Parts: sequence; structure tokens; C-alpha cells
Amino acid sequence: MRGLIGVDIGGSGIKAGVVDARRGALIGERVRVLTPQPAVPEAVVAATAEVVAGLPRDGGPVGIGVPGPIVGGVVTAAANIDATWIGVPAAEMFSEAIGRPCVVLNDADAAGIAEMRFGAGRGVTGVVLVLTLGTGIGSALFSDGVLVPNTELGHIEIRGKDAELRASAGARTRRGLSWAKWAPLLDEYLHRVDQLIWPDLVILGGGISRKADRFVPRLTARPPIVPAALRNEAGIVGAGLRARALLDPPRRRAAAGRGPAASAVR
Ligand code: BGC
Repeated sequence: MRGLIGVDIGGSGIKAGVVDARRGALIGERVRVLTPQPAVPEAVVAATAEVVAGLPRDGGPVGIGVPGPIVGGVVTAAANIDATWIGVPAAEMFSEAIGRPCVVLNDADAAGIAEMRFGAGRGVTGVVLVLTLGTGIGSALFSDGVLVPNTELGHIEIRGKDAELRASAGARTRRGLSWAKWAPLLDEYLHRVDQLIWPDLVILGGGISRKADRFVPRLTARPPIVPAALRNEAGIVGAGLRARALLDPPRRRAAAGRGPAASAVR
């Protein structure tokens, strides 16, 4: 099978790798370049094309996670990326620059897909909420393993503020908060999300999940809460898995985000 390429576009870095869809792991090295600043579409697309060109493999489809909701391949909001991304037909732009078919999806949805297939959500039925705690808060919601794409639960308002400004890992660093001071903010957020979604399981991802023992024991929210298993590579792996949809059109076409059957994880 041709290699699947996964790309994870973040605020500080663009990371990519060749994904082994059977193992849910990277084949070979992960490559990373700094995200151009300002992170306007043309510059980010060009940097992504460069990263992909540097990967050692023979052309396959590319899945790209971006930190914003994506509807029909178009970015529809931009809380954590440059505002000029709004309305950009990202899938089209990336495909043209990279010279291969590309599918674009929300970064947290990508991480969630990987976590459900190979990580802490493997085999879990019911409602699972994957939250990525980074610069912002990303969310990926699954019902019996099927993704409801583009939930933007990091933007729930708490005490008059966007939740991710209070409870993300970035907010903790920015405000120099100890684990003991930050955990209650995250906990308050989880209580609120619980009241809206009532998930059977919450999986906490993002780089900070490595330190889960520092804050998970301090959380009091109702649902079981576990750290993600795939850590930093989840976004790349999930994006690569989604690229598989481009290998076998039209049966898998819907999985690229164009139809209701679209988001089945398995
Ligand atoms: C964006 C989401 C994204 C999350 C994590 C939020 O600010 O609105 O789309 O998934 O950050 O990057």
C-alpha cells in the first residue's frame, strides 16, 4: 500500500510523518518545521508542501489537521490561527501546492480519530469526548466510535470568558499557574462540558497529557477521565488515517468529510 501522510499544523510547528495505518504509528522519522509567522494561508501551505516533499516515500494521499473547523474542505473559523484563513478552500490549496490529493480536517478531530482507533478510546462504545489541551482546547466527540466533526467545545463561555483562555495548557503557562491552581480551572470546564454532553469517557490529550499524574487526580468531574495514549503523534496519525479515504474513492470518499456516513472511525 502506498504511504499515507499525516500533517499536524500547530501554532508553533508543522509536523508530518508517514503513517502506518495498521499499527497507528509513524514509519520513520517525524519531521517538523516552524510555523511561518504570520501564519497566513500562503506561507503555511508553502511550508507544508516543503515538509511533505522531504518525507521519504513514494507519493500517497495526504491528511492535514488544522486548528479550526473545516466544512467541505473550507476553514470556517479561526480562533487559534490567522484570521485570513476564514473562507479559505484549504483542501484545494494544499492539494495544488503539494501536487497530491489532500484531505483537511480539524486538528482535534484528527487526534481523536487516532486515539479512538489505537489509543485510550480503542474499543470504547458510548459517548467519548477527546479534548486536546494545548495553546487552545480542541474537542472531538464520538458516539459508538463515529465522529461528530467540528465540535468547538473549547469555546464554551465560562465566567464571561472563552473557556480555552482559562483552562488550556497554554493558559496555564501564560499565567504561570501551578498544577494546584490550574487544575480547578480545568475541572470547572469539565463540569460544564459534562452538563452539556454527558460523556461516558473523557480522554485528555495534548503534550500536557504526559504530566497527567500532576492534574488528573485533582479533577472531580463526573465522567471517567483518562490521559491520551498516543501523545504528540496523535494528530499526525489521525490525519494520515483520514487520508486513507482518498485511496479508494468513491466508497471511502464520504469519509473525507462530504457525507453523513463520513466519519466512521472503523
Ligand atoms: C480551535 C479548534 C482547535 C483547537 C485546538 C481552538 O481554538 O477553535 O478548532 O481544534 O483550538 O487547536
